[in-house]
Amino acid sequence: MSNVADSPAAKAPCIKILTLFPDMVRTVLETSIPGRAQKHGQVRYQVVDIRSYATNKHRKVDDTAYGGGAGMILMAQPVVDAVEDVRENDDATVILTTPQGEAFEEALALELLADLQLKGELIVICGHYKGIDERAIDLVVNREVSIGDYVLSGGELPALVIADALVRRIEGVLNNEESANNDSFTVTRGGGLDCQWYTKPPEYRGLAVPEILLSGHHANIEKWRTEQAQKRTTERRPDLTASPKKSS
Ligand code: 6GU
Repeated sequence: MSNVADSPAAKAPCIKILTLFPDMVRTVLETSIPGRAQKHGQVRYQVVDIRSYATNKHRKVDDTAYGGGAGMILMAQPVVDAVEDVRENDDATVILTTPQGEAFEEALALELLADLQLKGELIVICGHYKGIDERAIDLVVNREVSIGDYVLSGGELPALVIADALVRRIEGVLNNEESANNDSFTVTRGGGLDCQWYTKPPEYRGLAVPEILLSGHHANIEKWRTEQAQKRTTERRPDLTASPKKSS
């Protein structure tokens, strides 16, 4: 997989996603901003089918839990073998997506992006329905991450959420209009929510665009947007105003 002839500096950092549903993961990574970033050589993706590391003839990768209980558990061996095969840097961060993980927030996205850039790769193992053999976690996982307090059918969507949030923070990935600088949760909005936005026409079903946005007075518009953003944050997410998050 690796090309030893290439100098590491010449290659974009690689997000490696280990999954039982590679087609699902690939499709999303090829779409929209994550897809464009790869085409522009700002990041690479390697999607790895954990099943290809099965050693039995039925390509079975999960089994019943010791001690009983419903659900199949992903076996340690295919996961550990997959990580050890695709990992090029022994110090690379290896994430497991699991509801038992630490909460994924913008600050963690930036931390993982720094890891990706420092180590040249970031490995994400997609969690499995009921769970994964704890020994795989003991052996190869450095960090368990959850995207929120609800249960999903698998770790693929969380892995894609993490990849998307990271990639859009790589320098040069977003153009000026898409710039993350005034998105919700970034510095410009003080770690709070974004304001409301409008486009043509000026009136739709009797609803008019706020007068100030048509005024052409840029300083007043910016002041209004900041006020609206703060108002929304206070109303909808008082938790974000109580202890402002650090972000850069
Ligand atoms: Cl990371 N995995 C699953 N299966 N469900 C989740 C999650 C992760 N984060 C929130 N719900």
